[in-house]
Amino acid sequence: MADLESILEEKRVFKPSAEFSKKANWNKATAKAMRELGEKSPQRFWAKMAKENITWMKPWKKVLDWKAPNAKWFLGGKLNVSHNCLDRHIEGEGSWRKNKAAIIWEGEPGDTRTITYGQLHREVCKFSNVLKQQGVKKGDRVVLYMPMIPELAVAMLACTRIGAIHSIIFGGFSATSISDRVNDAGAKIIVTADGGFRRGKPFGLKSIVNEALESAPGVKRVIVAKRTAQRVSMQVGRDLWWDDLMAEASANCPPAEMDAEDPLFILYTSGTTGKPKGILHTTGGYLTQATTTSKYVFDLKDDDIYWCTADIGWVTGHSYVVYGILANGATTVMYEGAPNSPAEDRFWDIIERHRITIFYTAPTAIRTFIRWGDEHIKKHDLSSLRLLGTVGEPINPEAWTWYQKVIGGGRCPIVDTWWQTETGGIMITSLPGSVNTKPGSATLPFPGICADTVNEAGESVSGKTGGLLVIKKPWPGMLRGIWGDKKRFRETYWDKFKKQGFYLAGDGAHRDRQGYFWIMGRIDDVMNVSGHRIGTMEVESALVSHAKVAEAAVVGRPDAITGTAVVAFVTLKGGLEGDNSLRDALRKHVAKEIGSFAKPADIRFSNALPKTRSGKIMRRLLRNIAEGVDVVGDTTTLEDPSIIAKLQQPETR
Ligand code: WTA
Repeated sequence: MADLESILEEKRVFKPSAEFSKKANWNKATAKAMRELGEKSPQRFWAKMAKENITWMKPWKKVLDWKAPNAKWFLGGKLNVSHNCLDRHIEGEGSWRKNKAAIIWEGEPGDTRTITYGQLHREVCKFSNVLKQQGVKKGDRVVLYMPMIPELAVAMLACTRIGAIHSIIFGGFSATSISDRVNDAGAKIIVTADGGFRRGKPFGLKSIVNEALESAPGVKRVIVAKRTAQRVSMQVGRDLWWDDLMAEASANCPPAEMDAEDPLFILYTSGTTGKPKGILHTTGGYLTQATTTSKYVFDLKDDDIYWCTADIGWVTGHSYVVYGILANGATTVMYEGAPNSPAEDRFWDIIERHRITIFYTAPTAIRTFIRWGDEHIKKHDLSSLRLLGTVGEPINPEAWTWYQKVIGGGRCPIVDTWWQTETGGIMITSLPGSVNTKPGSATLPFPGICADTVNEAGESVSGKTGGLLVIKKPWPGMLRGIWGDKKRFRETYWDKFKKQGFYLAGDGAHRDRQGYFWIMGRIDDVMNVSGHRIGTMEVESALVSHAKVAEAAVVGRPDAITGTAVVAFVTLKGGLEGDNSLRDALRKHVAKEIGSFAKPADIRFSNALPKTRSGKIMRRLLRNIAEGVDVVGDTTTLEDPSIIAKLQQPETR
């Protein structure tokens, strides 16, 4: 635990303005009361939230059934997610929202679409009928592999309307990654698009699906939305156009009555082995947490224009582009492309033109903006902004203060939100009207969330000695399992503190005297590159699958922009020599096996890897080498100490 010792000593404190606090959805007094209720009884707190923020078709009979590691929330309760995100905003009490913008979408080339709640409801009903016509039934898995276009939100909501389980695969994943996920989920249908636009150019998606399906014979149907109008090859009898199906579909589709514990979606995420985990979320608890946190962390109001820059292919996009935001009847902005297309001021231009009030992005993006320079920001009027958020990785205090000053004009509270694919929704965060913030700290657990830092024995630790971040009591948005792998679910998250029944988050953290949480990063072999989780083993398996590679070890190295950079140590087969052209080939290979975002920044060749005499690769040592610091600690167990010097030579380009 010694290396978790924190070096951060941030003393600055930012208080919410009186004006913000007064108008906040939770003012200081209510926030305090909610925190107390959550501490006294998480169940009562969440039941109150579920009642106030969610529309149920039938009330639940019991709030929680908990036999670690299995939780059931809101037992017997019936609801439908698309009903909560759409129908309740166009009929009855909420019907005035019918003509309100649900989605303001902007394509990278500059085309825009504004879709009202009424229109979105109609599209979703139609696509629900399309899915039904294609034989999709309750519980079936539907894979969505799409660019950031409104059709993706339509397809998600349609799945929830008929009780199908969606599994979204981020558009940057390769054919191999798609077939692995499709096969693991047992999906028979994929919804995709011809392609999308990024950095001024169209890219293909359908072509990648075609390749993936060569190794996923279970897929019988592919629905293709048209975005770029590029040429694509369609397989007769299997592939159908979105527009053709929608033209024929009825707009009448009542929402299915779903059980609170019916599966809602699967989302694959990296773990410590080469195989991604299908994180399973269910209906009632997930929606309760996504909706409640959206309302009180982002302080969502009816006149807000909210923009989360995450791709819907990651969990942030699920909970805070679509479900949590639409369930509140708010306006969500979706942008298709890159932040520097056509120029480095694209985001600020979007904020100015759409009068965005709430902006939620990742620290890696913030650090990139800093590097691009303040002149791009000064060109634009950002005075509409009233709240800023960050997610995905620890934010360094310099980036935090820059964000606060340059983007927020010194007037916007910042919510630094810690959570995970597994947690479903925000867990540790400030509340904008009531919590004083400190740059670099995610501050305090959300009411009803029982988080702590503990030592190896499971005992609470505070102060500068860090500990393992755990969640001590079940929460409504928690994962219900790993698709098809009960054993891995138990081993990954629960076995470490089996006796206590704590959830192991996989992050290190420390708490200061006020109980504020400072997240220190992953404690396992998962790297967080630009806020994307990549397993070291995944990259290793990809490298080793290349014909010339004998062995590979991958570690993360701190990087000023991306948080972590991927460094690969590679030994080649039978006396082969590594050079820059092989480096390029290996990078391409990783892109093909996983996706471009997983490409190693640095590849070092060696004729051996540092191993103990028992044959274990010494990763700690590789980490030192990757960081360019002196190799510390005991190296006497090394089988061949001379290889250290060789590995220390940096890559020459
Ligand atoms: C990291 C993203 C520090 C953390 C929602 C976690 C953070 C992993 C923060 C989950 C934050 C996320 N401060 N670290 N505010 N938010 N992380 O599953 O290591 O893509 O375990 O979910 O990101 O990544 P995931």
